[in-house]
Amino acid sequence: MTADAVRILFLVVLTLWTTLLPLADGAFYRRRPESKVVLEGEDASLSCSFNDLSSDDVVNWQGPPADTIISAGRKVSVLYERRHSIVGDASQGEYNLHIRGAQVEDSGDYRCSTPSVRAAADVTLTVVVPMVGPPDITGAELPLTAGDELLLRCRSRGGFPPPRLTWYNGTHRFGSEDTAGDDEGGSVTLELFTARVSKWDDGANFTCVADQGFPDIVRPRAASRILRVDYPPTVSVPSPSVHAREGQAVNLTCYVDSNPKATVTWRKLGDRLPRDSIQSDPAHMVVVTLYMNVNE
Ligand SMILES: *[C@@H]1O[C@H](CO)[C@@H](O)[C@H](O)[C@H]1NC(C)=O
Ligand SMILES: *[C@@H]1O[C@H](CO)[C@@H](O)[C@H](O)[C@H]1NC(C)=O
Ligand SMILES: *[C@@H]1O[C@H](CO)[C@@H](O)[C@H](O)[C@H]1NC(C)=O
Repeated sequence: MTADAVRILFLVVLTLWTTLLPLADGAFYRRRPESKVVLEGEDASLSCSFNDLSSDDVVNWQGPPADTIISAGRKVSVLYERRHSIVGDASQGEYNLHIRGAQVEDSGDYRCSTPSVRAAADVTLTVVVPMVGPPDITGAELPLTAGDELLLRCRSRGGFPPPRLTWYNGTHRFGSEDTAGDDEGGSVTLELFTARVSKWDDGANFTCVADQGFPDIVRPRAASRILRVDYPPTVSVPSPSVHAREGQAVNLTCYVDSNPKATVTWRKLGDRLPRDSIQSDPAHMVVVTLYMNVNE
């Protein structure tokens, strides 16, 4: 036999040996537990079953707070017997862990194992407590002035796991997602800072979204703040020079942008406005037109 043939034969034998080994060795998982997410107060069930358990095999559940033994066979530890039970058909090797009225402290990693079988990976139970409401936004309660700095603070209200906060300016994500934990009540805060606001920020809609990460179970909550920014008037006259024939009517137009709206008046330098000239409502107008007949 060549060296290659020996190597191939060796691999075939090894493969058969490792695939047949679990069968030869007795028990094996029929159903491994799977990670779950439930609302606080709901019942939670983690499935686990084995095939070919011998009468000596004992199935254990371990879990929070610290890989503690919850059950051995059908017997639940006294620490857990109030809400935990092992359900399913024992003759079918079913050892499902049922938790009545799941609590936050039930969150954590669980393991279902029996000593004669290599343990399956741990699974995670997450017990979700919804936020009590949308987050609170503080800052910029009063109008700012162009050039001011802007500091908004978004603070979540309750909820487990604590939400992740994100700021949006309109529909655009703003800044980073660094949420800071908070001692009291487990709420988190995220600040939004800009060194200088401009007139373009007037009316901007800043929204803070709090998301606990399980949208099918708890919907994200949001709060918004519409920014008010005061800025001084800028005046522009699109046609600085207007030609007209004597006796004709002309319009002089200027555009004024300010917040709050400015009071705008046309004046004639060194003189009074021509008689019978009309200013379109001069107060609180963005566009102010002076209408007059050119006859002097
Ligand atoms: C917010 O969005 C508006 C409109 O896109 C933009 O003009 C403004 O500069 C933005 N503000 C900040 C602080 O990013
Ligand atoms: C601000 O934006 C949020 C999110 O897009 C939206 O739900 C809310 O209605 C907006 N507020 C105003 C006053 O437009
Ligand atoms: C002046 O403006 C008014 C209002 O916009 C318009 O009705 C009128 O026709 C204009 N007159 C002239 C001479 O452009």
